[in-house]
Amino acid sequence: MSEIKDSKLNKQGRDRVEWAYRDMPVLQEINSSMSRRKPLKGINIAACLHVTTETANLLITLKNAGAKVSCCASNPLSTQDDVAAHLSKDYGIETYAIKGINNKGYYKHIIDSLKIGPNLTMDDGCDLVTVVHKSHKKYLANIIGGTEETTTGVIRLKSMSNNNVLKYPIIAVNNAFTKHLFDNRYGTGQSVMDSIMRATNRLVSGKNFVVCGYGWCGKGLAMRANGLGANVIVTEIDPTKALEAKMDGFRVMSGNEAFMIADFICSVTGNLNVIDKHHFKNMKDGVIVSNAGHFNVEINIDSLKKMSTKRKKIRNDIEEYSIGKKKIYLLSDGRLVNLSAAEGHPSSVMDMSFANQALCSEHMVKNHKKLHNDVYDVPIELDNKVAQIKLKSMGVEIDKLTSEQDAYLNSWESGT
Ligand SMILES: NC(=O)c1ccc[n+]([C@@H]2O[C@H](COP(=O)([O-])OP(=O)(O)OC[C@H]3O[C@@H](n4cnc5c(N)ncnc54)[C@H](O)[C@@H]3O)[C@@H](O)[C@H]2O)c1
Repeated sequence: MSEIKDSKLNKQGRDRVEWAYRDMPVLQEINSSMSRRKPLKGINIAACLHVTTETANLLITLKNAGAKVSCCASNPLSTQDDVAAHLSKDYGIETYAIKGINNKGYYKHIIDSLKIGPNLTMDDGCDLVTVVHKSHKKYLANIIGGTEETTTGVIRLKSMSNNNVLKYPIIAVNNAFTKHLFDNRYGTGQSVMDSIMRATNRLVSGKNFVVCGYGWCGKGLAMRANGLGANVIVTEIDPTKALEAKMDGFRVMSGNEAFMIADFICSVTGNLNVIDKHHFKNMKDGVIVSNAGHFNVEINIDSLKKMSTKRKKIRNDIEEYSIGKKKIYLLSDGRLVNLSAAEGHPSSVMDMSFANQALCSEHMVKNHKKLHNDVYDVPIELDNKVAQIKLKSMGVEIDKLTSEQDAYLNSWESGT
């Protein structure tokens, strides 16, 4: 039995899910092919993903492909309650997700979603896989493989694999080119700016906007903040990424320097305490602090709480912390701001991420016997297929290698 906020929200959820689907042409093509072929017939899938309109379209595709599907949220604040209602009521997909649930409820929902007895797991951040491996090992017997959506999840899985504790093969969907080059970069770039502006209604132009981390997400965020007229400052720990940010035209500083002059700070590193106690002491009055990395560990919120003399909710997604006369504004409790204060990435980028998820599920069903208990990249043929369908949907034609060019590229003998 699903656990959702209100099943009567299903009609609103349906309209929004259909709206998203219009901008997901790759998934549409995969859905129509899989609905005919039923490659996931007899497969049970437990999915731990942000419960958004785009995720709904993925889960519906998996169901149409013959799978039995259950789902839970991969973040306590990212659930769209109307979408959860639609999945549960209109599609009979067992859904365990309520926006704003506490930590205990969040983990209970993960455990609930496992009751389906999964053959495949689909995770975003590796919480579901961790629960299976730590406390619910009985489910391992039936699991043939899984997929992982995000950078942080892939890092955790690689650590499991290196420590020889991973018990089934998992495909790192995040590592597909058609995922991270678009979702992490353009998706995060647009949706994080959207969320900060929705939450605060503050002007970005002319402000000092600090981006912590210049990885795929950070590059997108810096690009979009710059496009809105902000003075972008990047902080990094990797010298090459820092150099890249510098040559892309941004100011690069240490956190100590940057946070002192910041009007906005957003972390997107996947790392711990990037914005820490000693930083809060030196921040300007009125600074707006947020996080777009997967977990709410990038900002040391515990120390902010301890340092502050007063806390006040200002409006949805904004909490004011007073340190003496200074005010620091934290967005969305330091959780993924774009999924909490806005709606996550636009459908058009999730189209490619979730097309990879659907194709990788089929690939895993067909090939799991050949795979070891390890983390695998998305096969390049599937990655290319997603790019090709996307280009076709945009009406873009590209050139093909001639046989002469193909031979040249494969030859070591020809020189000048
Ligand atoms: N908000 C979203 O919708 C969304 C989407 C995709 C990924 N993510 C998450 O965002 C995070 C980053 O993902 P990515 O794909 O950009 O990863 P990435 O590995 O490409 O980039 C992370 C960057 O952060 C830097 N970094 C690490 N520690 C740092 C520190 N202390 N200070 C400054 N920089 C530091 C690294 O050097 C690296 O360049 C992950 O947690 C990922 O799961 C969020």
